[in-house]
Amino acid sequence: MIKNCAVILAAGEGKRMKSSHPKVLCEILFKPMIDWVTACAVEGGVADLCVVIGHLSEVVRSHLNPSIETALQSELLGTGHAVMQAKDFLKRHGSGNVLILNADAPLMDSETISNSLNFHVRNENAVTVIAAKVENPFGYGRIVRKDDDTLLKIVEEKEATDEEKEIKEVNSGAYWFNCQALLTALERIIAKKNVAADGSKKEYYLTDIIEVILGLGLKATAFNAESPHLVPGANDRVQLLQLNEIAKKAVLKKHMLAGVSIPCADGVIIGPDVVIGRDTVILPGTILKGKTIIGSDCTIGPNSLVDNTVIGCNVTLNNTQSVDSVIADEAQIGPFVRLRPNSNIGKGVRVGNFVEIKNSNIGDGTKISHLSYIGDSDFGSDINVGCGCATVNYNGSTKSRTVVGNDAFIGCHNSLVAPVSIGERAYTAAGSTITEDVPADSLALARARQVIKKDWVKNKSPYKKK
Ligand code: UD1
Ligand code: CA
Repeated sequence: MIKNCAVILAAGEGKRMKSSHPKVLCEILFKPMIDWVTACAVEGGVADLCVVIGHLSEVVRSHLNPSIETALQSELLGTGHAVMQAKDFLKRHGSGNVLILNADAPLMDSETISNSLNFHVRNENAVTVIAAKVENPFGYGRIVRKDDDTLLKIVEEKEATDEEKEIKEVNSGAYWFNCQALLTALERIIAKKNVAADGSKKEYYLTDIIEVILGLGLKATAFNAESPHLVPGANDRVQLLQLNEIAKKAVLKKHMLAGVSIPCADGVIIGPDVVIGRDTVILPGTILKGKTIIGSDCTIGPNSLVDNTVIGCNVTLNNTQSVDSVIADEAQIGPFVRLRPNSNIGKGVRVGNFVEIKNSNIGDGTKISHLSYIGDSDFGSDINVGCGCATVNYNGSTKSRTVVGNDAFIGCHNSLVAPVSIGERAYTAAGSTITEDVPADSLALARARQVIKKDWVKNKSPYKKK
């Protein structure tokens, strides 16, 4: 059986974004638009993808997963021309169906993709246009129907008559085509003279294909998508915000309906790939992004940024930033904690206020409650770290590790100068600068002995008193 495939149009310059970066890498909920679109195709059951690239093509190509094929559109001559650049890819899928998607319309959903494919196959269509009714159709291609309600054509804003501009049913920019019909009809469009009446270069609209296909005696139908929210494309930063708002609300709703509490959504932004367990509470000002996974019964926030972090159950994380880290069950993190990449926080660990941890393992039940920096370290379980400790992990050229055994007690205001290790159950005295390994069960004192100079103040000039 021939697999379904998809061609994704991502070559456009996106002038209206006023950006030095490719438009299709603009982000919705921290995820580039092109990634939303490729994910939608894959989730909709499409096996092979080809992305048409053009403007800043190398940047887009290197962003894409290498398993995705690309076709280069070296001259940007419109959406019809763009699809034609994937000719070889389409020929390989000869009698199969191809999904065409715009890379700047990230909110299309996989359910609509698979439902419209069923509709397309059932009706033996040559093309099925995914359409929807929207409040404000300005800028979109309008779906023009005949008196009997069948599809007549798609007319672009620029070419639409005043009457056609009133039509609220618009082209989403997503279509299912029979590959062969698409190739035949595209050749007809491209064969037309490449110059417009006014002498300017003509754009080859993919949307003109409807009339060509109907002219060939083949079936072209519009599939009505239920939601107007699938359609919006982001052509400028204002539309980008509108898309973010739509996507943000949809993601929050999905989590709330799945048992996550969001008592106040102010400043709460959750990326589309974040997973959250039941009865977890997300408090205001909290941004969850990347491949973050949070267990059940946690309290996350307020004012926290969690990126690519795996969090267990019953964790509290208050005013904290965490990137590329793992936090086990029942840990209490914050307020004012920064977990930098590769922090591995054990079960029931307490990381208190103003603590930074980087590239370190912190064993179960350990407490680092106040004002400390732990970098490149391996701490065992049930350790107590006093206030204001630092691992001295960097000597200006190399970084070294600090190892602390289970049940050790690090006094307040210690510097642990790495490489150094402190044995199990050992104590270090407050104010110590530990430069040598401390054996298990010992006490290390590494500070100057206190000296008392009696009556020193009284004898000190000019306060000398008789
Ligand atoms: C297009 C549709 C319009 C539809 C709307 C939905 C056409 C002619 N019009 O309009 O009917 O309602 O999408 O959002 O197709 N691209 C290329 N190469 C090009 C030109 C564009 O790859 O030469 C890509 C762009 O990167 C973009 C997509 O095609 O991802 C759509 O192009 P754009 O110019 O944004 O089309 P719209 O004006 O939005
Ligand atoms: Ca667009």
